[in-house]
Amino acid sequence: MKKAWWKESVVYQIYPRSFCDSNGDGIGDLKGITGKLDYLQKLGINVIWMSPVYKSPNDDNGYDIADYQAIMDEFGTMEDFDELLLEAHQRGIRIVMDLVVNHTSDEHAWFMESRSSKDNDKRDYYIWRDAKDGKEPNNWGSCFSGSAWEWDETTRMYYLHCFSKKQPDLNWDNPEVRDKVFEMMTWWCEKGIDGFRMDVISMISKPAGLPDAPIAEGALYADCMVTCNGPHVHEYLQEMNRRVLSKYDIMTVGETAGVTIEEAKKYANSDGTELNMVFQFEHVGLDGGLADKWKKDKISLPALKENLTKWQKELADVAWNSIFFCNHDQPRVVSRLGDDSPVSAKCIATMLHMMQGTPYVYQGEELGMTNCPFGPIENYRDIESINAYHELTEAGLRQPEELLECIAYKSRDNARTPMQWDDSENAGFSTGKPWIMVNPNYREINVEKELADEDSVFYFYQKLISLRRRSQWSDVIVYGDYELLLPEDEAVFAYTRKLGEQKLLVLCNLSDKDVTVALPEGAAGEVKAILITNTAEAPELAEKVKMTKWQCAVYEV
Ligand code: GLC
Ligand code: CA
Repeated sequence: MKKAWWKESVVYQIYPRSFCDSNGDGIGDLKGITGKLDYLQKLGINVIWMSPVYKSPNDDNGYDIADYQAIMDEFGTMEDFDELLLEAHQRGIRIVMDLVVNHTSDEHAWFMESRSSKDNDKRDYYIWRDAKDGKEPNNWGSCFSGSAWEWDETTRMYYLHCFSKKQPDLNWDNPEVRDKVFEMMTWWCEKGIDGFRMDVISMISKPAGLPDAPIAEGALYADCMVTCNGPHVHEYLQEMNRRVLSKYDIMTVGETAGVTIEEAKKYANSDGTELNMVFQFEHVGLDGGLADKWKKDKISLPALKENLTKWQKELADVAWNSIFFCNHDQPRVVSRLGDDSPVSAKCIATMLHMMQGTPYVYQGEELGMTNCPFGPIENYRDIESINAYHELTEAGLRQPEELLECIAYKSRDNARTPMQWDDSENAGFSTGKPWIMVNPNYREINVEKELADEDSVFYFYQKLISLRRRSQWSDVIVYGDYELLLPEDEAVFAYTRKLGEQKLLVLCNLSDKDVTVALPEGAAGEVKAILITNTAEAPELAEKVKMTKWQCAVYEV
């Protein structure tokens, strides 16, 4: 397998609004991030992906961009950005930017021109259609509720927005749009950034003719996921690769909602003609995460194993995986797969970090930060949660209380509460009133406390990262072959990694019960080393292995 720095990296995702506020306005900012680089260096990560920091009216917290070459007022200035980049580079940390080019803000200059008249030269930068029988041009729904079409009185036509109506979709079929996007990307690359995470990049090529799509039961509109993996998406990414990406030593990861194995093999092909890797979402959809998000079902472990194993095996040698469970759109994994306890956080981390692919740690995950008890809908800030609550209750499709419980479990805001730095007011995030509530458990879970406790989740992540990045097992952890054991077991996620003479055995009891598992013959063997465990001692390897609840261990055998 071809070696590459981005395969050997561990990425840390920052949601700038919620990371650290340097000036007391209640909103995290760039100076706040720069001030915490030493902390990140201590954790051991070598790449930061920042959610968008560009100028934005914040309808969707920066995923609605009004100017790709300016910094959001609340986050600081371009000088602050340059300083962050420099300070990160001095610590050997690379910076990956969020690239949101499926859509812009409706306050972007392009859109303001585009909507001004039918013959404006930017008219075709966006997707405009006439009304059909006095209604929307098709039955697609926005990912944030309601129709995906907005009527615009000025020219009496509709424009397409797969997300909020303040996020009009760009028309990638227009070569001039591609030119502009590639120019902007080049500008950032010339500035010295180290890569792009590409927002909903699988949605940029819309199906020809924008046809109606089936409407699922209990839904009001067709899912705009119909725009995923469209007819020209690979062609456009190959063009982007030729014209921009291939000219720089950068890393790229596509957020590819709706991606299948076959599609991922194209997006992240190892010939390097498109992107380095993609985020796939099947595993975080196993509890109704994509099509029917607002549920409280638990993910079944055999299903999770089957899914992650499929991605491990199918992409091996031909593409590259990214490994994650948390990001700014997902609830906290320790509340989802675990029981909010530090020991369960460590077990989940081990299960993920010993797999093949580039791991992503989302801010606070390394502390075991949990979902937040928000209470009433008024305490939420996320457009997706708020719109869904109103749409589904007003249409009588869901009961408010029951829906609110599901929103509490799944809302993206769970990931967006302020980073918990210490036990002072506002968790040390800000001296002002934070833009979103602080998780009340910040006195128990915070950086200061964890740095003072060698058994903390923080030091466990630090160890996992150093095993991957600089240990005698780095190669087998990064490049080794993956093999699942015990596919049917309801409690234990077990697998091996193999490279040359080295073989690792990973055992994770992802259940809140003590268990005894019988390993398949030949799986164990003589223990040469114990790489990591989350209990005082690792379980003894024998034909039958006894594991306490949430216990995990990695052995060299
Ligand atoms: C992606 C982002 C999400 C955002 C959406 C629209 O899914 O991760 O936060 O709301 O795209 O840009
Ligand atoms: Ca601030």
